Amino acid sequence: MTTYRSKILATGSAFPANRVTNADLAQRVETNDEWIVERTGIRARRVADAAKGELNSELALRASKQALDRAGLSATDIDFILYATVSPDHVMPNTACVLQEKLGAKRAGALDISAACSGFVYALSIADAFIKTGQYRNILVIGAEVLSPMVNWDDRGTCILFGDGAGVAVLSRAPEGDASQIYSTHLYADGWSKELFFVPAGGTAMPVTHEVLDQKLHLMQMKGREIYKVAVRMLADCATEALTKNGFTVKDVDWLVPHQANLRIIEAVAKRLDFPMEKVIVNIEEFANTSAATVPTAFDEAVTNGKIKRGDLVLFDVFGAGLTYGSALLRY
Ligand code: UT7
Repeated sequence: MTTYRSKILATGSAFPANRVTNADLAQRVETNDEWIVERTGIRARRVADAAKGELNSELALRASKQALDRAGLSATDIDFILYATVSPDHVMPNTACVLQEKLGAKRAGALDISAACSGFVYALSIADAFIKTGQYRNILVIGAEVLSPMVNWDDRGTCILFGDGAGVAVLSRAPEGDASQIYSTHLYADGWSKELFFVPAGGTAMPVTHEVLDQKLHLMQMKGREIYKVAVRMLADCATEALTKNGFTVKDVDWLVPHQANLRIIEAVAKRLDFPMEKVIVNIEEFANTSAATVPTAFDEAVTNGKIKRGDLVLFDVFGAGLTYGSALLRY
């Protein structure tokens, strides 16, 4: 069987207009800018306004149009849409179908991927496999979240951390001889730790009732300190595995694009890998943790501002609710 290679042809991203600062949050819960910056590295986040049309699918639409435009493709060139999100517009249909209609991607199959903050790398991995087999040529890989309606804005332990946004990559079959390629992807999960970060109600296990709403069980609950402990090891192990598998060392890597959950986690991973922070892409300060959107938006920003260039060796490294974790090593 002929196998092909995939490459990221182009990227795009979009954020809601409303910028909420740490000082804004301090008016609602007992917190302050100094604590949030010192413990997380976050200074601001964007919060979507559904009344102004800032739905998850609308952010993804803006980011997708930008990515397609840069790729020189039209929506009908897209064979498949893989949409990583845990904050879909609706439980049903999937948001990939909603986007398909908005975009006019008439030929595409459409699927949502639920792997929380690891979602984009999970989706990228599946897209890569589709392209490797020759089944599809152009796939829209999306990481997009509107987490704000799932945040308990009275819980200072979580409300400071999250933001809304969308990032998109067009993954396409690489022409023969092209250096750009996905080398490998590595996906893992730890379902035993599922209650470290979860939304108790809203699924079929606990449908929404008045009691559920009163107790705020339809909102995110997180054991931050416990996640913190395992996250550093998961990220470091996945990064090392991707390098070892392909015969590279950390010295070969031009850019590390990690999940943006906490700047201290990112710094601890860089330290453990003996990797310089100057080569780590960080956008948490301005956009906070946008779950599946952190890696594609951070990557897009770094490509757009000229930091990441064609030919660079780039390592994506993620973890999130599930727990899920993984990495992807690619030459851009
Ligand atoms: O997408 C990935 C999923 N989530 C994560 O990756 C989260 C990983 N965890 C973290 O990022 C950190 O654990 C947090 C930022 C959530 C918390 O930071 P921490 O350094 O682990 O703080 P802590 O939970 O140990 O709390 C320390 C103190 C506590 O007070 P006491 O008990 O020592 O008196 C908290 O009540 O800080 C207090 N605290 C706050 N104070 C001011 C907790 N949240 C806040 C706050 N403002 N927002």
